[in-house]
Amino acid sequence: MTARRVVVAGAIVADRRLLLAQRGYPAEVDGLWELPGGKAELGESPESALRRELREELGVEVRVGTALRESVALRHDLVLVALRAYIEDGSPRAVEHRALRWVDADELRSLHAEGSLVPADTAWVPELLVDLARR
Ligand code: CDP
Repeated sequence: MTARRVVVAGAIVADRRLLLAQRGYPAEVDGLWELPGGKAELGESPESALRRELREELGVEVRVGTALRESVALRHDLVLVALRAYIEDGSPRAVEHRALRWVDADELRSLHAEGSLVPADTAWVPELLVDLARR
């Protein structure tokens, strides 16, 4: 049996806005928006992986909180999970993405409706809308 690799993504909500990152590759998702993150290394916890990925991709230090309920099977050996994250140091920069954008609930709904989110990430929209109404 193949071990399941985890891909972690960060749900960063502050002042009723969610941070989205625009992918530049591969072609299928070029221009679409996602929660930033990436693959955990072998033996690396999802929390450590997310701290590392967000340091590399956004140049920020985060505290990692709870997981969103939905997880998404990307392939038989790859599962995508989202963890809430809170920026403790730095201002996010698009180091590896095309652009970054803070969206409110209405903007998230619009991006979803127009098909501008990375497909796997659409599973989190209902939960993200609840978070956006709270923080
Ligand atoms: O850079 P690394 O290979 O660590 O990760 P990635 O290429 O950013 O993500 C690994 C896989 O997860 C790719 O298939 C991405 O499209 C997918 N992914 C996703 O569907 N949604 C996210 N928020 C982040 C990654």
